[in-house]
Amino acid sequence: MPRVALIPGDGIGVEVVREARLLLEALNASERLDLELIDWDLGAERYLREGVTITDEEFASLAEYDAVLLGALGDPRVPGNEHAKDILLGMRFKLDLYVNYRPCVLLSPELSPLKDVDGPLRLEIFRENTEGAYTGMGGSFKTGTRDEIAIEEDVNTWKGVERIVRAAFDFADTRGRSRVTLVDKANAQRHAGGLWRRVFAEVGARYPAIEQDAMYVDAMVMDLIRQPQRYQVIVASNLFGDIVSDVAAEVTGGLGLAPSANIHPGRNALFEPVHGSAPDIAGRGTANPVGAIRCVSLMLDHFGRGELAARVEAAVAASIEHGRTTPDLGGQLSTAEVGKWIMERIAGDRAAST
Ligand code: NAD
Ligand code: IPM
Ligand code: MN
Repeated sequence: MPRVALIPGDGIGVEVVREARLLLEALNASERLDLELIDWDLGAERYLREGVTITDEEFASLAEYDAVLLGALGDPRVPGNEHAKDILLGMRFKLDLYVNYRPCVLLSPELSPLKDVDGPLRLEIFRENTEGAYTGMGGSFKTGTRDEIAIEEDVNTWKGVERIVRAAFDFADTRGRSRVTLVDKANAQRHAGGLWRRVFAEVGARYPAIEQDAMYVDAMVMDLIRQPQRYQVIVASNLFGDIVSDVAAEVTGGLGLAPSANIHPGRNALFEPVHGSAPDIAGRGTANPVGAIRCVSLMLDHFGRGELAARVEAAVAASIEHGRTTPDLGGQLSTAEVGKWIMERIAGDRAAST
């Protein structure tokens, strides 16, 4: 029986994971998924209550799960975000989840804030997830004085770069995507940029049928707004991938819609919406649950249930087509109402097809 750990976390993470859980429970019953869902109490509340973010034993235990679904971590009462760093970045690093796959799909042209967007838009980001500017290497000296020095190293290893670039090309190759774009800042960062460009060319040479190009990150975020249709699969370092994925999410309808998978292929998988805990709307029941629901669809795909994942995606698309959305998309439904509509749609599709 596959075991799934659910970590709602903070803010709207709790609200959207509730909907994802209800969907998993429903599919468990109707599709005999045979998943065991186990709730985990990790987040700001626990940190403030016990002074503990996550223990080594908990990491070891999470490593044994077949999948983890996380809502979001971030709470104004923890301004340094220590718990998010320990839990979220901790899982990415300790479980070596080197692929951060972030598909941003435009389901309907009117969802995009851009004018003149027509036709399908599918931006799939492969973000390096275990090194770059996120390792915490560096330090600060004379902290808090006018002589302060703060160094945040940008760590790029051949192994780390090669495996994410390979994952992006493999994906494009097996899923029929015709273009892979590297995002870097090679004009300013000669060492890191040089490594990424060499590895990209070397790995790319094994995929002659796939178009390949490289963009500087500043030009890339501009071009994602000017002509996003030009791009398909995008591969980037940890920090650039983080930034590019928020822009890609926004041009395809907003942060509330985007899911992500953090994966070490063949080993561990952690699914989380791209958005954060949104303290500005938390507690109102208006958060868009679609990013989290699409995490369920990525999880189903990961478990080899691609046809079921496609049904979840179709139900999400239908909810948008029928205007059954939360306020961020111009609708009037609550988080729970959107979740329920999508669930009923999936159940209805099933009844219609059987
Ligand atoms: P955010 O993604 O939480 O919110 C950005 C904006 O988008 C806000 O206006 C918010 O209301 C809106 N938004 C986000 N998700 C939405 C949804 N599902 N439905 C409707 N509107 C939505 O980013 P932020 O405000 O920069 O960060 C808030 C906290 O979350 C911070 O502590 C940050 O570190 C953390 N964070 C956590 C994760 C994660 O756990 N994966 C990701 C990003 C940010
Ligand atoms: C994300 C978030 C995290 C990141 C933060 C909360 C550390 O923005 O998952 O995109 O930068 O990776
Ligand atoms: Mn981010």
